[in-house]
Amino acid sequence: MKSSLALLLAPLTAVAAPTAGQAAESIDELIKAKDKLYYGTCTDQGLLTSGQSAAIIQTNFGQVTPENSMKWDQTENSRGQFNLAQADYLVDWATENNKSIRGHTLVWHPQLAGWVNNIRDPAELTTVIQDHVTELVTRYKGKIRAWDVVNEIFNEDGSLRSSVFSNVLGEDFVRIAFEAARAADPDAVLYINDYNLDQPNYGKTQGMIRNVAKWIAAGVPIDGIGSQGHLTAGLASQAGATIAALAATEGIKEVAFTEVDIVGASQQDYTAVTQACLDEPKCVGITVWGVRDSDSWRAQNNPLLFDGSFNPKPAYNAIVDLLSS
Ligand code: XIL
Repeated sequence: MKSSLALLLAPLTAVAAPTAGQAAESIDELIKAKDKLYYGTCTDQGLLTSGQSAAIIQTNFGQVTPENSMKWDQTENSRGQFNLAQADYLVDWATENNKSIRGHTLVWHPQLAGWVNNIRDPAELTTVIQDHVTELVTRYKGKIRAWDVVNEIFNEDGSLRSSVFSNVLGEDFVRIAFEAARAADPDAVLYINDYNLDQPNYGKTQGMIRNVAKWIAAGVPIDGIGSQGHLTAGLASQAGATIAALAATEGIKEVAFTEVDIVGASQQDYTAVTQACLDEPKCVGITVWGVRDSDSWRAQNNPLLFDGSFNPKPAYNAIVDLLSS
């Protein structure tokens, strides 16, 4: 009969076999070997406490973005009353599991608390933005590597989108938000994030480049541009040229693919996005927007790297092959 000590030690010496769904090879480890910082995904408490998402993220991804838990309607639905339990869960889980975190997102027009939408006074909205940004960034100071400070602020033609923020403050809300974030955590990398930045000569791409260069020159502390990467099939063929154009923005320190999901999830499209990041020295990493298809906000498009049963799909294996070569 085994001694109780042997029984106690046995689980510690055994090599943990992958649980159902975990891929044998980690695209995060492989992309780190290519000098990138992470291959990540989005998640939140509900997903981390059911199914195989937590196990898969533990072994196959190196970074997490809260899918919803840090948005304004979740965090400050009443003025000055912060509900950060879900966000805390995500940050604690990531910290315990040694995953880098992208904070998402501080100033965004959807999933915004209703009371913010009703503000008409510029001084009041300034204070409200400063208080919100300061509360969140301070709480996770030193734990969150990068923040999406403003999200989706451009129209398709590259002009500034109409929102309570732009309508009341003009483009000055950008400076206000970034300065508050910088003051709260001087070490966090501060991003402007948007979608449809998928073609170099597209209006929104050009508007992003033009405006960010102008704001940086004026002293607004913008460090990075995030390209969400919600793609239709085939569009990834332009990912390389586009991320290079964004990275060339005067004054920008880094870029990232921040919310990748691709209609149909072809191997070709996923390897093209991965190659685009490898080829661009300022690209720090890639975040896919979810683990398995059935949990995706675009579930009907099967756009992710794991199927509904948490099995790695051909696109995952194609990324492994690309990163192994
Ligand atoms: C999505 C989430 O995935 C959904 O769960 C939620 O219902 C709506 O928002 N751009 C963003 C993300 O910046 O925050 C959005 O996430 C997808 C589009």
